[in-house]
Amino acid sequence: MIRTVVVGCWLALTAACGEAGPARDVSSMAPSPLKSGYEFLTPETQALQTDAFANPGFLWVDRGAVLFADAREGSPACASCHEANGEALQGVAAHYPAVDETSGRLLNLEGRINTCRERHQKRDRLDYESDDLLALTAYVAGLSRGAPIAASVGGPAAKYAERGRDYFYTRRGQFNISCNQCHNDYWGQKLRGDTISQGHGNGFPAYRLEWQSIGSLHRRFRDCDAGVRAEPLEYGSDTYVALELYLASRAEGLLIETPAVRR
Ligand code: HEC
Ligand code: HEC
Repeated sequence: MIRTVVVGCWLALTAACGEAGPARDVSSMAPSPLKSGYEFLTPETQALQTDAFANPGFLWVDRGAVLFADAREGSPACASCHEANGEALQGVAAHYPAVDETSGRLLNLEGRINTCRERHQKRDRLDYESDDLLALTAYVAGLSRGAPIAASVGGPAAKYAERGRDYFYTRRGQFNISCNQCHNDYWGQKLRGDTISQGHGNGFPAYRLEWQSIGSLHRRFRDCDAGVRAEPLEYGSDTYVALELYLASRAEGLLIETPAVRR
């Protein structure tokens, strides 16, 4: 129970102590029932997400649709291979990250899109967190809006899921706190004006009011790592992609909300 006390104290230091309530038993179990980050938002922010005209994330989705149709001399458009309006890719994002058969590497959507650019379009990779990569990723993930997460963690994916799980349960940073301590053990409690959610990736890329932009799931990981004063990993790092896979397995059945709106 020492662990509970340590995190409890730290949370009490940063959040309003009275609001934190009694510490729950430290479970190390995936949260149950599963709740999307959406359920922890204010009604105003929820309304912003659900209204496709007001949700600023759709600016990136629309830009992604334009990029998807962009054909050049000697370099086909995404749409040339995956059908206009992306019909062939509906539901695909629910199975990501996934192992690429050709290279054996685990790819998230950003990695898959960049692989298609190099392999099938003979174009340069897009920079992680560039508006173009965010737009294409939001567009492709948006084609799976409402689909239940169902990533494979068997076979060649197993070792990656294991690596992601290790990262999730490892304490780090000056505060010496692991992801699971906040998102498994303390979800529902207050921290610096936020309500800690279960830490699912089902809304990403997501528009964060704090960022005034859409951002990738890795940007969110980096914020959480920095929050405990740990050195964040590089965008697109293999470990963050593996973490993404572990989070997907932990969120199996939760519906994709991209582009979500978050505080
Ligand atoms: C000190 C507590 C704390 C730790 C440790 C922490 N987070 Fe978070 N995390 C938060 C808070 C606060 C938010 C913003 C509110 C929310 O959505 O939970 C957040 C948000 C998230 C979200 C976005 C959820 C959504 O629906 O938008 C994800 C995903 C996430 N964290 C994953 C992680 C991962 C992975 C780790 C470990 C690398 C981690 N967090 C470590 C507190 C923490
Ligand atoms: C010349 C044809 C071609 C073009 C152009 C192309 N792709 Fe692909 N794409 C493929 C093939 C083939 C695969 C299967 C994996 C492989 O062999 O690389 C694939 C796989 C994918 C997948 C994963 C599908 C799955 O079921 O896992 C996504 C997502 C995707 N492409 C998106 C894109 C996007 C976005 C673009 C434009 C930036 C694009 N592709 C351009 C041929 C293409």
